[in-house]
Amino acid sequence: MQKTLILCKPDAVSRGLSGEIISRFEKKGLKITALKMLRVTPELAKKHYAEHVGKEFYPSLEEYITSGDVIAAVLEGPEAISVVRLLVGPTNGIVAPAGTIRGDYSLSNQLNLVHASDSPASAEREITVFFS
Ligand code: CMP
Repeated sequence: MQKTLILCKPDAVSRGLSGEIISRFEKKGLKITALKMLRVTPELAKKHYAEHVGKEFYPSLEEYITSGDVIAAVLEGPEAISVVRLLVGPTNGIVAPAGTIRGDYSLSNQLNLVHASDSPASAEREITVFFS
């Protein structure tokens, strides 16, 4: 069993898509072991996106992720990290395949609805950042 962190980002919450998104994970068979709604502060954004701080797109990423409520959840299941990333799809919604969450609902590289941990080390770190 593996655990991973997902965030329904501000665009998902404001568009009323968080239920649909979480439902896809549940229907796949993943178990929700923690869930909360919160507003990400600039400090929390810098912790969560530590590897992106300093990149050209970081200021707009921080503005976006702090712009409204997010829903953070821990999902558990066999190979949960890769299973969730397959369901979410590639970063850019324009090229994400239909059938993935981003492919079905996003037309942007930044406003891409969901964050999902990309490795066991990231999952462990990100779960601690949001559910310490
Ligand atoms: P996420 O999977 O949460 O990981 C980092 C986030 O940064 C990514 O989703 C996008 O929201 C955003 N992002 C990644 N690349 C770019 C980019 N080139 N321009 C703007 N935002 C980006």
